[in-house]
Amino acid sequence: MIHCTLLNPAIDVLYTVSEFQSGATLTDLDSQIIPAGKGLNVARVVKTLGENVAVAGIMMEENQAQFLRFCDEHGIKNDFFTLEGAVRVNATIMETRGDQISHLNSRGKRLGPAVAENVLAFLKKKVVPDDIWSFSGSLPDGFSDEFYRRIIKHCKKNSVTTLLDTRDNALRMGVMGKPDMIKPNIAELEGYFGEQVQGTHHIALKAKRLLDRGVGYAFISLGGDGMIALHENDCLLCSLPQIKAVDTVGCGDALVAGLLVGFARRFSFPEMCRMALACGASKAMHAGTGIIVRDEVWQLMEDIKIESV
Ligand SMILES: Nc1ncnc2c1ncn2[C@@H]1O[C@H](COP(=O)(O)OP(=O)(O)OP(=O)(O)O)[C@@H](O)[C@H]1O
Ligand SMILES: [Mg+2]
Repeated sequence: MIHCTLLNPAIDVLYTVSEFQSGATLTDLDSQIIPAGKGLNVARVVKTLGENVAVAGIMMEENQAQFLRFCDEHGIKNDFFTLEGAVRVNATIMETRGDQISHLNSRGKRLGPAVAENVLAFLKKKVVPDDIWSFSGSLPDGFSDEFYRRIIKHCKKNSVTTLLDTRDNALRMGVMGKPDMIKPNIAELEGYFGEQVQGTHHIALKAKRLLDRGVGYAFISLGGDGMIALHENDCLLCSLPQIKAVDTVGCGDALVAGLLVGFARRFSFPEMCRMALACGASKAMHAGTGIIVRDEVWQLMEDIKIESV
């Protein structure tokens, strides 16, 4: 089973307008309310690809019923540690004229170290051998940067495969837990090394250093330029066909889902990359997070170029 952690749940409100004007009052807009958060976005894509998936993490009492309904509708198993209050609300404004999409993301509530310990204990109880766990997103305000490192160590002790997709100190500390897979984008890689990283060779050298620190696979995502992936002595440069990207937020989450599914299905390293990249590209073709189209993924997989470098 594939498990996705959800530590920062959110409600996304998606507004469709013909043209957005700041200072104006826009009425009678089409709007949609969608439960979200990185772990849930990943889980939706995993499920669309046809694998069983569960989300585990934090939920706020006031939104619990809504998230449970959403998970049931999408066939996502769930197990939440419930806290008082409401989840943060993000707004997405889609402009039909000019194809612009704007995102307004809010800060989550501060949760203290005692909550972090309880959540860690809660997650540890769900870890059973041979599963796959992915840890996505920044940690809630008030959680120690050690959180991912500690849960990854616990997973590894229990023969569970781990994937880490985060930034800043949570990434720096998380890498010390030696996750099986990591997926930084360029900004996250640069943040990790504290320097600019440019060009295929430089990226590959930095990714190699992550392998030297005990990470099994390093997938460096490059937005529309694809991905550079390293595992053992292989370094793959993966590039995409030309597509029409309409919304690239959450593309990394879709890519992570492809990696998890490819790994679960025991794909070869290049085929895992192919599947992941196709998921990222399919997501880019649709507005909203967690949305890919399965047939589109199979089609894109045929058009992705993978070269050894
Ligand atoms: N403009 C684009 N055109 C085609 N594919 C894209 C584009 N942007 C992203 N992708 C696909 O999604 C993958 C991941 O994108 P990216 O590197 O932007 O992830 P990210 O920064 O982690 O995103 P997020 O954290 O918002 O989910 C890329 O490797 C690619 O497959
Ligand atoms: Mg990302």
